[in-house]
Amino acid sequence: MKAAIIYTSVTGNTTFIAETIQENMEKRNVATDLIPVDEFHPERLHEYDIIAVGMYTWANGEIPIEMEEVYDAFETEDLKHTVTGVFGSGDSFFAHYCGAVDLFRDMLYVHTNLAVTLKIELMPQEPDLVKCEKFCDRLLQETLVIQ
Ligand SMILES: Cc1cc2nc3c(=O)[nH]c(=O)nc-3n(C[C@H](O)[C@H](O)[C@H](O)COP(=O)(O)O)c2cc1C
Repeated sequence: MKAAIIYTSVTGNTTFIAETIQENMEKRNVATDLIPVDEFHPERLHEYDIIAVGMYTWANGEIPIEMEEVYDAFETEDLKHTVTGVFGSGDSFFAHYCGAVDLFRDMLYVHTNLAVTLKIELMPQEPDLVKCEKFCDRLLQETLVIQ
């Protein structure tokens, strides 16, 4: 079993979540590659059983521009059986709270085996760390279901 986390972050909040999820996956004995979006290669998506995608939201709820290649790859590659999760950091002050997560969720639901979604307000606090654990549990549960 192999997992990847593909993510982008400007001020570090999403990076922190991505690193926390990686630690949780490794604790569960799943080898997990942490891939900043600038090291992303679409052809490598097929190497993974589980892929988590993480991002901030800017610009009125839109997907960060650097994540568009990732979005397009999930739409065009055949990843129907890949278990996926999407997470992100946002600020509920804005009208479209974590809007990028919602847009990715809808696409992953159509093109992959979407297991879980996680939205976190700015930098994770103690209760959010529990949610990161649950995020990993959901990914792994879904993997068991399809084996
Ligand atoms: C110009 C600007 C626009 C933003 N727009 C949104 C938004 O539409 N929705 C949202 O949930 N958060 C919005 N945010 C908040 C960021 O998503 C939030 O600060 C997030 O924690 C940044 O994540 P990062 O540290 O991984 O870059 C905005 C922030 C800035 C600076």
